[in-house]
Amino acid sequence: MEGFSQAADNNKTPILNTLREWLSNGELVLEIGSGSGQHAIHIANALSKIRWQPTEHPDVLPILTKNISSFGSTNILTPQSLDLAAVEWPAESVDCVYAANVIHIVAETLGRKLIETAAEILGAGGLLALYGPFKYQGDFTTTSNAEFDDWLKDRNPKSGIRDFEWVMELAKDSGLTFVEDRSMPANNQFLAFRRL
Ligand SMILES: C[S@@+](CC[C@H](N)C(=O)[O-])C[C@H]1O[C@@H](n2cnc3c(N)ncnc32)[C@H](O)[C@@H]1O
Repeated sequence: MEGFSQAADNNKTPILNTLREWLSNGELVLEIGSGSGQHAIHIANALSKIRWQPTEHPDVLPILTKNISSFGSTNILTPQSLDLAAVEWPAESVDCVYAANVIHIVAETLGRKLIETAAEILGAGGLLALYGPFKYQGDFTTTSNAEFDDWLKDRNPKSGIRDFEWVMELAKDSGLTFVEDRSMPANNQFLAFRRL
């Protein structure tokens, strides 16, 4: 597999076990920032009734496409280009928008766009699932997350671990209802919102 991520391999099963609870049957899932496709491949293979649309920034799309064509199951759709900075998304209506480890990588403006556009394309009962580290009332949950934030900002000053409260407010303003904030391994959270 090209672009293999050890972190994605470590967290794919805890993520699957959580999504298994939140997705019931036959949903169309739009993944943003699929990376190497490891989550798409693992989760779609295990949840055979869902349909999974992986997407990536055009720069990374060739690696994702190669991995999905080598290792993907039939319920994974052909990977599509999705740059959060672009106006068009490759889907007009989905049941779930899933983004793991994206909101702290992209600039705040693009994180905002992710939540607002997700809310627009989710149908009634649709789920927004955001996985990654978050801050609470300005505080990191661990020293290692604070160090990770420094590392992110050294790479790109626009990156950074986002505030849980910022996500909550954006989701609420976009018409989404908070469902759960679940603590996950390795100091990550899984945030779930629904369009009711
Ligand atoms: C840390 S990786 C996460 C990959 C995968 N979701 C995971 O959890 O292993 C962040 C991903 O966001 C993607 N990304 C960065 N900027 C983006 C943008 N403007 N639009 C869409 N995706 C973007 C990157 O290409 C990268 O694959």
